[in-house]
Amino acid sequence: MALFSKDIQTMDDLFLHALQDIYYAEKKIESTLPKMIQKAGAGPLRDGFESHLDETHGHVERLEQAFTWLDKTPTVVSCPAIDGIIREADEIAHDISDQSVMDAALAAAAQAVEHYEITRYGTLIAWAREMDRNDLVELFEATLKEEKAADSRLTELAEARLNATA
Ligand SMILES: [Fe+2]
Ligand SMILES: [Fe+2]
Repeated sequence: MALFSKDIQTMDDLFLHALQDIYYAEKKIESTLPKMIQKAGAGPLRDGFESHLDETHGHVERLEQAFTWLDKTPTVVSCPAIDGIIREADEIAHDISDQSVMDAALAAAAQAVEHYEITRYGTLIAWAREMDRNDLVELFEATLKEEKAADSRLTELAEARLNATA
């Protein structure tokens, strides 16, 4: 469904579309993180991916909860944005043989993913607040907190790498 298709007329439609979009993205991340874990060198990056994979299962469950609270069946709409971020990461990581360069590429890709999630949950929270759905606000805020923490851990890793090479 395209964003400007006639299926989207009301704020409720728009909200549902955003929910289906992030649901697709979270499921895509859930299936991609195990591949990133395999490629990452042992250490804090891999550990971080592993713990974020656990959290991501929870993000998918929270979205399913949101669909239920809205009396909707969980469904996806394809999200070309997350597909693009992941495809680009795949293309870059494909040829890298040096593990530390690979880790830097993986961390940068993961950070792009986190930023995408942060912007989507930020929008969903704003719209849920507008719709007086505090139940959904709280649900999405719990996920947003974990996305922001994952993003901060990646920033710390990048800074640690910079300090190590300085
Ligand atoms: Fe997530
Ligand atoms: Fe995430």
